Amino acid sequence: MVDLSVGLAKGVVSKNPLVIASGIPGVRALMAFIREGVGAVTTKTITVEPRRGHPPPSIVRLPYGYINAVGLRNPGIDVFLEELPGLVRVAREHDSYVIVSIAGKSIKEYVELTLHLEENGVRTLGQGIPSYNNHYITNILRTP
Ligand SMILES: Cc1cc2nc3c(=O)[nH]c(=O)nc-3n(C[C@H](O)[C@H](O)[C@H](O)COP(=O)(O)O)c2cc1C
Repeated sequence: MVDLSVGLAKGVVSKNPLVIASGIPGVRALMAFIREGVGAVTTKTITVEPRRGHPPPSIVRLPYGYINAVGLRNPGIDVFLEELPGLVRVAREHDSYVIVSIAGKSIKEYVELTLHLEENGVRTLGQGIPSYNNHYITNILRTP
């Protein structure tokens, strides 16, 4: 069989280059992608507190495609940590990776999220900063 493996980070080799982008809420659909054979899935971005996100419509179809502004809707880190072990177990069974996307309003919140994840057995973190939430970025840049 052709070797499709690719390095995602130092010491992290994915069986193939298929990585599901962040945006799918909950873990059930991510588990389905893993069972179908993707190399890794990225969780919906998780914040410290639960967020309702923007009111609908948060996804709009236009003649040239879709635009979205979901507003980081997510249940918050505490609820997420209840769902995470099941997702990680399925990923391990299928030699796949879970990439946890996190967002904080400050460096302190990023550290808090990272520590929560570390305490719960997450060893490798790829931290994406959602570019469409400018106030988050601005706050972080202002943090001394
Ligand atoms: C409905 C929806 C929800 C999304 N939620 C998130 C999110 O929670 N966090 C994030 O970093 N990106 C989120 N995204 C952005 C996607 O991950 C992004 O569109 C993708 O990385 C862009 O890939 P592309 O440049 O290949 O199109 C979301 C996108 C959509 C359409």
